[in-house]
Order: sequence, then C-alpha cells, then structure tokens
Amino acid sequence: MTTTAPQTDIATQSPAAPADGGQPLLSVQDVHTWFELRKWGFGHAGYVRAVDGVSFDLEAGHTIAIVGESGCGKSSLMKTILGLHRPIKGDVVFQGRSLSGLDRGGRRWYHSQVGYVQQDPFGALPPFMPVKRILEEPLIVNGVRERAERERRVREVMEEVRLLPVGDFLNKFPHQLSGGQQQRVVIARAMILRPKLIVADEPVSMLDASVRVEILRLMEALQEAHRIAVIYITHDLSTVRYFSQRIFVMYAGNLVEQAEVDELLSNPQHPYTQALLAAIPDPEPENAHIYRDVPPGEPPSLVNPPRGCRFHPRCPHFMPGVCDVEMPPDFETRPGHKVKCWLYQEE
Ligand SMILES: Nc1ncnc2c1ncn2[C@@H]1O[C@H](COP(=O)(O)OP(=O)(O)OP(=O)(O)O)[C@@H](O)[C@H]1O
Ligand code: SF4
Ligand SMILES: [Mg+2]
Repeated sequence: MTTTAPQTDIATQSPAAPADGGQPLLSVQDVHTWFELRKWGFGHAGYVRAVDGVSFDLEAGHTIAIVGESGCGKSSLMKTILGLHRPIKGDVVFQGRSLSGLDRGGRRWYHSQVGYVQQDPFGALPPFMPVKRILEEPLIVNGVRERAERERRVREVMEEVRLLPVGDFLNKFPHQLSGGQQQRVVIARAMILRPKLIVADEPVSMLDASVRVEILRLMEALQEAHRIAVIYITHDLSTVRYFSQRIFVMYAGNLVEQAEVDELLSNPQHPYTQALLAAIPDPEPENAHIYRDVPPGEPPSLVNPPRGCRFHPRCPHFMPGVCDVEMPPDFETRPGHKVKCWLYQEE
C-alpha cells in the first residue's frame, strides 16, 4: 500500500488546532443519526432512529461511560463522533471545530487526535501486516519520515501496552497473537499518535474473561499516565468504574440519565437504570448461580419508537396519560444528576 506523506507531522504539531480557550474538548450537540430503510420496489420505508437527539460535553482528560442494552445506539453514536456517520441533524464539535466543516486535511488532523479501540481486535487488524507495520502506518500517514524515529515510537508504545519483549512481537502477524495481545496492538495503534481522546467501543466484550480485567487495567493506566479523555462504551455496568468519572445511560437512541459514577451507581433514578443495575451479576462466588436477567420486556423499535417516554411499555412506574404522551425533558434532581423521566417533574 502506498501512502503520500503530508508536509507536516500533524501528530505532533496539529497546526490547525485552535487553542482550548475554555471550551470543552468535545461537544456533541443535539445529534440525530438516522439510517434510511429502503423497500425493494417501493423506495423509502422510514428511518432507523439510532441516535435521536443526544447532547453532552467532554472536557480534556475526562472520562465517561455510555451504557445501555444491545441495539440502543451506542456504536452509532460512537461512529458519529468518529466522523464515520454523518448526523442528519446536530453537530459534533472537537476543540471548537465542527466535524461537518472539516476538509481532507482537517479530517486527517481529527483522526490524529482521536484514537479508536474496536470491539473485535482480530477484525480491526489488517491480517497480512506484521505488528511493526500496523503501528508504523499512522506515523507514515501523518508525516513521520524518519525510519529511526518511527521505530523508536513503535517500540515505545509497545512497551507501554506491555507487548514484551518487544522484539518477539514486532514481526508477528495478527493470527499469531492471542485475543488479549491483538487488543494490545489495537490499543497501541490508537495511542501511537498521542491522541487527546480515545473512543473504546466494548473493548473487552469479545475477549476471554481471564484477560478482560488486564486490558481494562491497562487502558486505565494509559488514561491516567497521558491524561487522555476516554469515551468507554459498554453494555456492562459492572466495568464502568475502571475509567469513568461520569456515566450516561442510553435507551432507544436517547440519553435517559447522567451523573457522576458514584452518584449514579448509589442513587439510580431512572427506572431503566434501576433495572440495569439490578441485572448486574453478583460478584460473590456463592451467589454466582443466581441468574439476573436484563430489564424485562423487549427494547422498542427504533423505526416507530413508542410515543412519549420510550421506556413506557416496559416501565413498572408507567403513568397512563402522562408517560405515553410526551417525551420527558431532563430533570436535574441533584447538581449534575439529570433524569429523563416524568416521575421527577416538580409540581
Ligand atoms: N449502518 C446501518 N444501517 C442501518 N441500520 C443500522 C446501521 N448501523 C446500526 N443500525 C441500526 O441502528 C440501531 C442501533 O445500532 P447500534 O449498533 O448503534 O447499537 P449498539 O447499542 O451499539 O448495540 P450493540 O450493543 O449490540 O453493539 C440498531 O437497530 C441497528 O440495527
Ligand atoms: S417517564 Fe414514565 S414510563 Fe418513562 S421511565 Fe419515567 S415513569 Fe417510567
Ligand atoms: Mg455496538
């Protein structure tokens, strides 16, 4: 594969980046990511409203988790933040620059600032490239011309992710590595340009249980050492303490509750969050046989979502004539704790 080296090493200089000026690192502004459904012969058949009005800010060096059941829109939101999906409404702004306004050079700059750790490490790695080449590639694309400098940075990041001894791994291909080692390569690739933000989408869900904690601890250590902002996406609330200062709970395309991690885990207020927490398996081995189910009922259709609160068909506190009429706004029940639920409307 040939790559044209740009004139500057944007991995280290990022010349187009504005100063912080007190603004958040990332601002997700009323993002709607819908996918068009097409019927054979009949044309347009509606939209999958995967992300339907999501807003939040993320400060430099801060960490958040986005949790929710399968299909609630977590990956669609993450791909919109990465610039892989274009929202039909709303905007993603990074260091004051709207993604929709970035030209080719701007997109290359953005991708040098934001690292991506995927769910499936094997699928994420090119099968016919050795580790050394996989890790060199972002440096080449971003104009690091000196071979010795690239090798130094490759070795440095491999030491950081504990692919040791480095010499044993440089020339291995992805299929010659274990799942945990493959994910270390994916993390190294995400880190090598020293990004300001890492987006990790279910980074351990496809790994053996025995290596999950190792990988989460590694990511936590890297986040702390480099003060990188992290968006950690998971369906597993039991792992959020590893990196999250703040948790956002997502349901059917919306953020339904958000709070600092201790506040949310000790005082969940949305009935959906309460059900999610009740579904966390008991860590005590003697209780491991107790099967805890996900919240009862099925997640709703994202093509024709329920009117009003989208959780109302499953909610034990459903109030007819209230919950099925209008979508609740965010009610701030304590400073920084917001809940999208009519139970918290003040009289
Ligand atoms: N490219 C696409 N085209 C059409 N529909 C899509 C596309 N990507 C996602 N969807 C739909 O959008 C909805 C949300 O999917 P998404 O992958 O974002 O959920 P998720 O929360 O990441 O789920 P999981 O936990 O299983 O990864 C689903 O109904 C999915 O089928
Ligand atoms: S708004 Fe109503 S249906 Fe929705 S979570 Fe609150 S009580 Fe339940
Ligand atoms: Mg997903």
